[in-house]
Amino acid sequence: MAGVQGSALAIAVSNAGGLGSLPCGLLSLQEMREELTRIAALTTKPYNVNFFCHRPPVPSPEREAAWRSVLAPYYQELALDIEAILPGALRTPFSNDAADVLSEFKPPVVSFHYGLPSPELLARVRTWGAAVLSSATTVDEARWLEAHGVDAIVAQGLEAGGHRGMFLSDNVTTQVGTMALLPQMVAAVKVPVIAAGGIVDAPTIAAAMALGAAGVQVGTAYMLCPEATTSAVHRAALKSAAAEQTAVTNLFSGRPARGIVNRLMTDLGPMSAIVPAFPLASTALAPLRAKAESLGRGDFSPLWSGQNASGCKEIPAADLTRELVTGFR
Ligand SMILES: Cc1cc2nc3c(=O)[nH]c(=O)nc-3n(C[C@H](O)[C@H](O)[C@H](O)COP(=O)(O)O)c2cc1C
Repeated sequence: MAGVQGSALAIAVSNAGGLGSLPCGLLSLQEMREELTRIAALTTKPYNVNFFCHRPPVPSPEREAAWRSVLAPYYQELALDIEAILPGALRTPFSNDAADVLSEFKPPVVSFHYGLPSPELLARVRTWGAAVLSSATTVDEARWLEAHGVDAIVAQGLEAGGHRGMFLSDNVTTQVGTMALLPQMVAAVKVPVIAAGGIVDAPTIAAAMALGAAGVQVGTAYMLCPEATTSAVHRAALKSAAAEQTAVTNLFSGRPARGIVNRLMTDLGPMSAIVPAFPLASTALAPLRAKAESLGRGDFSPLWSGQNASGCKEIPAADLTRELVTGFR
């Protein structure tokens, strides 16, 4: 879960018997190396590294200008200078440089969001025998991933928190809930299917397994664990009644993602055609987000969450992992 966790959560989950995951989508190569060094030192168990593999957009000055004019009143309200926006850290796709770093550590599982990288890059990951996973949000995407050689597919239902891994279509009406998606995907492909979205406890794990899942991926439920780096405003939102209302929005990055409804989403509507292409939308929001968060407000923050935040617990990730598994057995 890029932005809300690093190696600490991954290590805790792996050591407790789950497959901990290191999100690399927002890390520099140096940060990635440091995180992988920590993982290598602190667990001998299998772990996963996760990357985005979108095509970087061609920036559009017109769209950027339109986006800034929509945000201008908020800059005024918070006494910020809209002319002083600095280029921020952006999500970068998986690259040869990232593969160089990975080849030093040989992570046993490598997963992708937004399809797969080029065949050449994928072949590099295969050289050390890594299993390759990617997310599918439709049966078509699952068939595509299987045809391109993945070892397992994450079926990401519409309940899921964070970015939708959709890559064959940008039409959000193609997106369906876990219970509808999972059995259709299991019937359509031969590779194992891992269920994601709305899975928070033993009964929801049991439901996914009953529908043919080979395993489950749990995100939101871990966000209050002490090992997560979830911000204070984000933690407060997850613990409040606000978490009962989430929506899929493209406002924060340019791509659809599920988060708790906040002021920006209410004011502009969760989906907007004005927003710059992924991941550029976040640049002009960064100063607003930082200022509002310093005032204890999540008005401009992506408060990513799945539709079921009831499983979030402020307990060590190892305990949560064991609870999920023990309860299921
Ligand atoms: C805060 C947050 C960040 C996420 N970041 C990523 C990511 O970097 N890469 C990825 O493949 N999926 C990401 N996801 C999606 C999860 O992998 C997973 O599909 C989702 O959390 C499952 O649904 P749940 O949140 O209902 O458990 C993120 C989810 C959340 C909540």
